[in-house]
Amino acid sequence: MDSHPTGIGLGLRSAIIAEIDAGEADGALAFVEVSPENYLWRGGLALDQLARIRERFPLLGHGLTMNLGGLGPFDDRFFAELKDFLDRHPTPWYSDHLCLCNNGAEFHDLLPVPFTRSTAKRIAARIREASDRLERPMLVENVSYYLALGEVEMDEPEFIAEILEQADCGLLLDVNNAFVNAQNHGFDPYAWLERIPLERVRQLHVAGHESWDEQTLIDTHGADVRDEVYAMMAWVIERTGPLPVLLERDNHIPPLAELLGEVRKLDEVYQQALGRWRRGTGAVPLEVLHG
Ligand SMILES: [Fe+2]
Repeated sequence: MDSHPTGIGLGLRSAIIAEIDAGEADGALAFVEVSPENYLWRGGLALDQLARIRERFPLLGHGLTMNLGGLGPFDDRFFAELKDFLDRHPTPWYSDHLCLCNNGAEFHDLLPVPFTRSTAKRIAARIREASDRLERPMLVENVSYYLALGEVEMDEPEFIAEILEQADCGLLLDVNNAFVNAQNHGFDPYAWLERIPLERVRQLHVAGHESWDEQTLIDTHGADVRDEVYAMMAWVIERTGPLPVLLERDNHIPPLAELLGEVRKLDEVYQQALGRWRRGTGAVPLEVLHG
């Protein structure tokens, strides 16, 4: 694995990109995450800005539309453009979601896939193919989902572990997605985390979510990160050691200064967790975390 940044980063979003380009986040971020789909088939100002930003920060590439859960063949034109973009904007790996987002027509959403052995096998083969086509390692991200997934043969941790093993790839572990799913589907997020192969985790996502009603959480990336999600991030870091951790914010984006305040708060918790990892005292009893 190539060298990669560790610490807290932000995703490049149009609401904050000009300020980042102007140097207002210098020294405050370990990396920025970029979604190539925002740049493919574009030129001019957007690419010029990105060229300047990559002089300031390491980039991590994160995709939205690879359609790893899809049934049809990959889109050759998309892959050619993506490979070209990644060659010009090198990142140590490329990540996308364990989901279905296109079935001949774009869904504009990240739809879950059924947790079956045949689906795991098919997705693992697609991850290997994507990695070969892009000539770089792939990470896959666990998604949030709101509906039962039909006839299931395994639960989500087993499904994820099987895919990672068969594809021999890394995991982009979104702890907010795991928390939202745990709340909505009634399972213990730490019991879920304990069954995830942490040795495969290469990057984390944290984000805020909002309540739909008393019982249902929606993964909007539109609020501050909740304390429970900070605690899950720390639980992982004290077991894995240094990793890049991305703060995702896609809605109700506050001014950059406010976002950087949240980055600092995350970094404090991250550094404390790293301290426990270094002292070998990371395995905090689960009762403490639950309490
Ligand atoms: Fe995410």
